[in-house]
Amino acid sequence: MTSGTNFHGMIAMVTGGGSGIGRAVCQILARDGARVSVCDVNLQSALETVASLEHQGDHVAFYMDVTDKNSVSNALSATQEKLKGTPTLLVNSAGIVRRTRFLEMSEETFMEVVHVNLKMPNIYETTMVSLQGTFLVSQVVCNAMIDRDVARKGSVVNIASLAGKNGLAMKSGYAATKGAVMALTKSCAKELAKTGIRVNCVLPGAIRTPMLALSPEEHVMEGLKANPLGRAGEPEEVAELVAFLLSGKSSYMSGADVEVTGGHGF
Ligand SMILES: NC(=O)c1ccc[n+]([C@@H]2O[C@H](COP(=O)([O-])OP(=O)(O)OC[C@H]3O[C@@H](n4cnc5c(N)ncnc54)[C@H](O)[C@@H]3O)[C@@H](O)[C@H]2O)c1
Repeated sequence: MTSGTNFHGMIAMVTGGGSGIGRAVCQILARDGARVSVCDVNLQSALETVASLEHQGDHVAFYMDVTDKNSVSNALSATQEKLKGTPTLLVNSAGIVRRTRFLEMSEETFMEVVHVNLKMPNIYETTMVSLQGTFLVSQVVCNAMIDRDVARKGSVVNIASLAGKNGLAMKSGYAATKGAVMALTKSCAKELAKTGIRVNCVLPGAIRTPMLALSPEEHVMEGLKANPLGRAGEPEEVAELVAFLLSGKSSYMSGADVEVTGGHGF
């Protein structure tokens, strides 16, 4: 693994920081000097992430449900109070997946996935109202960056998915939300550029996390046969890319979607 991003003195907020890719992102950011607010709907797992970070005492864990604006605002206020500043680095990693045949998927299941990954009050009003789970957090945190006059240092990374670009059988609702996360990333990048905030997203392929473990092993193995590198990725391999996109090393990148897939899906 490379090191080299320097986040010394910076505050990061990571949603879904209690597990998988979000946890690995917290670990890499802490390694590189950031003070990290680990946010998750599962507070216990967020606390466990904090316990695993370098530079103990610099980091905090908070309950956050990304689909609830009050919960997002409360976690942000608590972060500002405890870490004595406003996060300028934001990673939206919270997400859920449900495996269901498209023809048999209930509206409730579809909406549950949509709600967390891409919060829309009403799926049929997507062109009118697009309040996203990821976007809700981005909106609250980016407004805070602008209010506190730190937006010029701002950088947001959304965790989308290769499924958002290529589609995924049995996970149509999931793939739909991830395609929307990609489009939202590009729109936010355009709109927020004048504030100094950059917004990018990453498209992981199969990454070895608790989420991937929800898929039947034989389906994962079948998918990996078509993977040029012949294996699933590790969360740290995504986290290093996220750190690069958050850092000044990617200062001319905004609105990008970068694949981290072992070559799968070109
Ligand atoms: N693992 C993969 O193969 C893969 C591939 C492509 C994209 N992704 C994406 O990467 C992101 C992280 O996935 P992962 O594999 O690390 O999954 P994970 O299940 O290990 O972690 C997801 C975390 O999100 C949290 N979360 C769920 N709902 C939440 C909510 N409403 N509010 C706050 N936190 C919530 C969970 O508690 C969990 O800690 C997700 O957005 C996922 O869609 C994963």
